[in-house]
Amino acid sequence: MSSNQKLNRVEVCFAPCDFHQYEEGFDLIVVIDVLRATSAICTAIEHGVSGIIPVATLDEAREYQKKGYIVAAERNGAVVDGFDIGNSPYTYMKPELKGQTIALTTTNGTKAIRIAEQKKTVVIGSLNNLQSLCDWLIEQKRDVLVLASGWKDKFNLEDTICGGAITDILLESGQFTSDEDSSVAAKFIYRSAKENMFAYLKASSHRRRLRALDLNADVSYCLTPNNVSAIPILKDGILVPLETVA
Ligand code: MLT
Repeated sequence: MSSNQKLNRVEVCFAPCDFHQYEEGFDLIVVIDVLRATSAICTAIEHGVSGIIPVATLDEAREYQKKGYIVAAERNGAVVDGFDIGNSPYTYMKPELKGQTIALTTTNGTKAIRIAEQKKTVVIGSLNNLQSLCDWLIEQKRDVLVLASGWKDKFNLEDTICGGAITDILLESGQFTSDEDSSVAAKFIYRSAKENMFAYLKASSHRRRLRALDLNADVSYCLTPNNVSAIPILKDGILVPLETVA
């Protein structure tokens, strides 16, 4: 890179309630919810689901049910009574979901996607698609804001680790810079966690919640980097494979 080439910014916003403090000047947003919404969405698109409609409320999800859609609903880690499926990434590997469009509502992740949706480009990130996402982001030569879904508008550790991983990789490319302390903090947290994320997160709140629901296998899957290459992108309100969008 020549010394006068402008660097792009990569920043991390820790929770949706802070989005308005960070969003100015960004039109490329990466939404992450490592445990488990965005890991499940990346997995669904990788395994041939045609589209995921991110839905904020259960009432809206029931409307999709009435229209005949397959509807997935999770609250506080559990599948909501009366819905077909929840938020386990393993669910979305099922061959019968291939080619389907699924409406999905989750405690935090789908709300964060809806908060970001007015921006020009919204893509979905996770540890699962980390490298393919970062390769694509580097090619875009645009400023990138990573929006962590957090937990009920609070900071969470797993999304911070993933935001830090994206920041670390983009900074290492030599084409990006970060100004915000949140981004610097996320990068250092990622670096201290990366050798054993499962153990690092042992005491974290959603790891404890999912352990109580006997969902450790989901956690291990979601903390496995680069087992997916799909990059879901929001197009007309539906998350679809990046390569289907011109
Ligand atoms: C969320 O949106 O908060 C999560 O994905 C919760 C979960 O799946 O456990």
